[in-house]
Amino acid sequence: MEVKRVMVIGAGQMGSGIAQVCAQAGYDVIMHDVKEEAAKKGLERINRLLQRNVEKGRMTEEEKTETLQRIALTSDLQEARDADVVIEAVVEDMEVKTKVFQELDNIVPDHGILASNTSSLPITEIAAVTKRPEQVIGMHFMNPVPVMKLVEIIRGLQTSDETYATIREMTNKLNKTPVEVNDFPGFVSNRILMPMINEAIYTVYEGVASPEDVDRVMKLGMNHPMGPLTLADFIGLDTCLSIMEILYEGFGDSKYRPCPLLRKYVKAGWLGKKTGRGFYVYE
Ligand code: CAA
Ligand code: NAD
Repeated sequence: MEVKRVMVIGAGQMGSGIAQVCAQAGYDVIMHDVKEEAAKKGLERINRLLQRNVEKGRMTEEEKTETLQRIALTSDLQEARDADVVIEAVVEDMEVKTKVFQELDNIVPDHGILASNTSSLPITEIAAVTKRPEQVIGMHFMNPVPVMKLVEIIRGLQTSDETYATIREMTNKLNKTPVEVNDFPGFVSNRILMPMINEAIYTVYEGVASPEDVDRVMKLGMNHPMGPLTLADFIGLDTCLSIMEILYEGFGDSKYRPCPLLRKYVKAGWLGKKTGRGFYVYE
């Protein structure tokens, strides 16, 4: 199937990044958010990052303008009626995602593929709420989307070979590397990353070291580009908690128990960089 029109649902840090790379690859993109303000902010973010590309000589001013012209904003889900591929990037919550998928299933044309950027939720379960489970797939981008090369591709139990082939080809066109993994809680990326972040939070919770020192150890000692607590703030502590809950519930193993300090911060509204406070304070 040839993909021309892409709709992105959720214009937060991931959705806006996905919309940007799709537009840069030449797709016509509609970026949707329930909050009009969020979509506008997403577009501003894209504008800033494209401008940086111009300044760095990676793109001409004309290419920037053309890329921006390929992105339309909407708060009306009905605009999905012409989409070949929809990529959902709303909050990491099964109830919210399944509702979006049910609605999209009634709007998107019969050939349309419904992809989810979920970090950890079972694709098979999301697919099961639609009448087209063979056209539902996980397309898990990494943050920050314009920089990171990986897209984890997750096939649900009923995902067809054709759907997989279309999404793999699209990923290559986005200049990313697809890696196919099976549908298991947290897939590969977050099954490995998130317990490390959770353990870093336990290390602070148990008074072993300050957030700064935990991050220093992992950056200088393990050559990680960001310490785990800086990374947790960057990902969003709400997203980190949701992923840990899904691992804990999905495997039923106490080794995935979310740290109480993580729960406390999320309850306080300290969600990391996006709210101005998490393990660190952001101006
Ligand atoms: N958005 C877009 N571009 C960004 C960015 C952002 N938020 N942050 C940095 N960049 C760009 C910068 O503009 C810079 O590009 P140019 O200078 O060439 O224009 C380039 O990235 C490098 O940035 P810096 O030199 O400022 O900083 P850095 O060398 O530390 O790199 C980083 C920044 C790439 C984010 C690096 O710190 C890194 O790789 N961090 C770890 C990221 C990571 O682990 N991501 C996965 C998160 S988990 C996930 O995504 C899955 C999930 O489900 C939770
Ligand atoms: P975010 O909080 O930055 O953005 C979520 C956006 O979705 C918000 O703008 C919100 O208004 C919008 N939204 C909520 N409900 C909606 C609905 N019903 N319809 C349309 N829009 C709706 O979150 P994010 O970090 O961009 O994460 C989005 C998804 O991507 C999550 O599933 C998350 O697990 C996944 N993910 C996140 C990261 C990360 O590092 N943050 C990495 C990979 C994947």
